[in-house]
Amino acid sequence: MKNIHQISHPLIEHKVSILRDINTDPFQFRMLIDEISYLLMFEACNDLELKSVDITTPVAKTSGKKLKTKLMICPILRAALGMLDAVFKLIPDASVGFLGFQRNEETLNAEFFYAKLPVDYKERTAIIIDPMFATGGTAIDAVKYLRERGVENIKFISIIAAPEGLKKFNEIYPDVPVFVAAIDDGLNEKGYIVPGLGDAGDRVFNTLN
Ligand code: URA
Repeated sequence: MKNIHQISHPLIEHKVSILRDINTDPFQFRMLIDEISYLLMFEACNDLELKSVDITTPVAKTSGKKLKTKLMICPILRAALGMLDAVFKLIPDASVGFLGFQRNEETLNAEFFYAKLPVDYKERTAIIIDPMFATGGTAIDAVKYLRERGVENIKFISIIAAPEGLKKFNEIYPDVPVFVAAIDDGLNEKGYIVPGLGDAGDRVFNTLN
């Protein structure tokens, strides 16, 4: 699957191991989500277009490059909100387009409930973020939502993925690159990634019972 990029780096592996740990508290969990997202975002941006610019330094006039690609970051509510700050650290002037999908606990399917895109969304490259790439259902629906509205360039960043979800996604959107930190063993009967890290949203927002 040429569009699936597992970013292997000792720092990422180290941080993902702490992230998975049931004893990692919500504060540390949020810090790790932020740090890993930053590293993945850095990789996902490695082909962004640049334009030449004139620069005056305190010493001389010179030329340089700045980003030409206009970005729209699309966090899938709610767990991806934990990844958003990391993206802003790298691209402070990115626009945000929220996508709301809620998992139906009976069917395990993602159900759309909300979207708020920037006005000029069609001109932007979308980077969808969601920490867990499980069945692939939400990822497919999110890309479909954007493509149906004319967004051509789309990338996806997730922290942990299940092979089943990646395979399903790849069959439908082989042109959409997916950047992940880890590809796990698979899904359990409840649609959770194994070994995974549990419910990412609950761990980010400390809503575990
Ligand atoms: N969503 C999560 O938060 N965790 C999983 O393991 C799967 C989907």
